[in-house]
This record gives sequence, C-alpha cells and structure tokens, in this order.
Amino acid sequence: RGAAADAADLAGRHVVISAGGTREPLDPVRYLGNRSSGKQGYALARTAAARGARVTLVAANTALPDPAGAEVVPVGTAEELRTAVLKAAADADAVVMAAAVADFRPASRAANKIKKQEGRDPEPVALVRNPDVLAELSAARPAPGQVVVGFAAETDDVLANGRAKLARKGCDLLVVNQVGEGLAFGTEENEAVVLDASGGETHVPRGPKEVLADRIWDAVAARWASAAH
Ligand code: CTP
Ligand code: CA
Repeated sequence: RGAAADAADLAGRHVVISAGGTREPLDPVRYLGNRSSGKQGYALARTAAARGARVTLVAANTALPDPAGAEVVPVGTAEELRTAVLKAAADADAVVMAAAVADFRPASRAANKIKKQEGRDPEPVALVRNPDVLAELSAARPAPGQVVVGFAAETDDVLANGRAKLARKGCDLLVVNQVGEGLAFGTEENEAVVLDASGGETHVPRGPKEVLADRIWDAVAARWASAAH
C-alpha cells in the first residue's frame, strides 16, 4: 500500500462496486454462468473501505467473506445486478463494474425442471440480449462528477481491443487484463493496464489483486482531482 492509501484519501466518497458473475436461469435448478470468482471486486471493496470510502458492493453469486465496512447487496441475474447498481449509483462518486455480466440470457425460463425425452434430441436454447449496465451508467451519469470504471478481459490484441471498448462503452477508465489458460480467473494475482479516456495508460505488473485495486482507486482519485480544476 502506498502513502496515499494511508491518508484516508477516499473519505467522504461513496463508491459502488459490482463483483462476481451473473447466473441466467434455464429452469429452477440450472443456469448459464461464468467463471468469475469476484476476488478482484472484493479487493476493490476492501481497499476503498480502508481508504475511508463508503462502499456498496453488489455481489453476484460470490462465495467470499463480506469485506469489512462494506454494504453487500447480493444479486443473481444481470437484470437484478442492473437494478441494484443503478439504485446505488444515484448518489455515487464512482461506480466500478468488476462483475462479469452475462451478455445473453435464456429467452424463457422453464417453470419446472427440464426433462429428457426418450429418443428425442434436446431443444436448442434460445437466447436474448441482457442490458449493458456499464454503457447505460456511462450514458446516464446520475451524479455530477461520477467516475465510471469498466473491466475487460481480452484474449488477444489486449490494448487495441481495450481502447475500442472504452470508447464504445463511454466510461472514464477501463481496466484491461489478458485472460486465457491459468490467467486471472480465480487466481490471487492479476496483471492489467488501466486505460484512461483522456489517453493515459497505467501498466500494473502481475501482483496481488489488492495492489491493482489501489492503483484503480488512484486513477479514480486522479479523475476527481482533474474534474475539480
Ligand atoms: N458489462 C455490463 N453489462 C453487460 C456486459 C458487460 O455492464 N451486459 C460490463 C462489465 O461489467 C465490464 C464491461 O462491461 O465492466 C466490459 O465487459 P465485456 O464483456 O468485456 O464487454 P462487452 O461489451 O460485453 O464485450 P464482449 O462482446 O467482448 O463480451
Ligand atoms: Ca461480455
């Protein structure tokens, strides 16, 4: 932790963090999901609380201890996550979308458990698009001076894809990391580049998720400071 981390430099700020991965139900017992553990989002919550912020953590299907000092709002689906994040964002100084939000959900949810049919092939699963919470937040800007942060996991052309995604989403900062075999998912460490909409680029070498979290809060604080001038 750096000197800034000891200074309670986020005191008086309300930050909202989404973490984990959404689950989109097919029937009462099955879902489409993803491998996000929520560890990076929880590290963001712990570090923000340690630096004095009021923290709302919207947690999608995580199995991690509640971070000290954070208000935890559990959610399941992308729709539930959207409702919880937009509500908490109304008075937030920063929103960090660390959750893996499913791009699609099953078009319908069977009321009863889906059964095999003897001698018949299964029905294909029809999908529909989920709302893009990050793009919606970036367009709405409910609170003045709010800083909106996205995450992107890319497997190739990491920086170019990250820049394009930052522009497309309209957020202020985008944290890009490379994923693939044995990288990022469920691990204790992360390596990333923090892209700033103003053109800045901060490389954070492989290390604990807390260290990346502190660098992300540094970048958020820098946006607040530049907006104040
Ligand atoms: N995100 C979101 N709502 C969605 C999908 C993604 O808010 N329905 C957010 C994620 O929380 C993340 C950011 O958008 O902060 C980027 O997610 P990513 O999946 O990389 O972006 P997509 O636009 O879905 O692009 P892709 O087609 O590469 O999945
Ligand atoms: Ca996606």
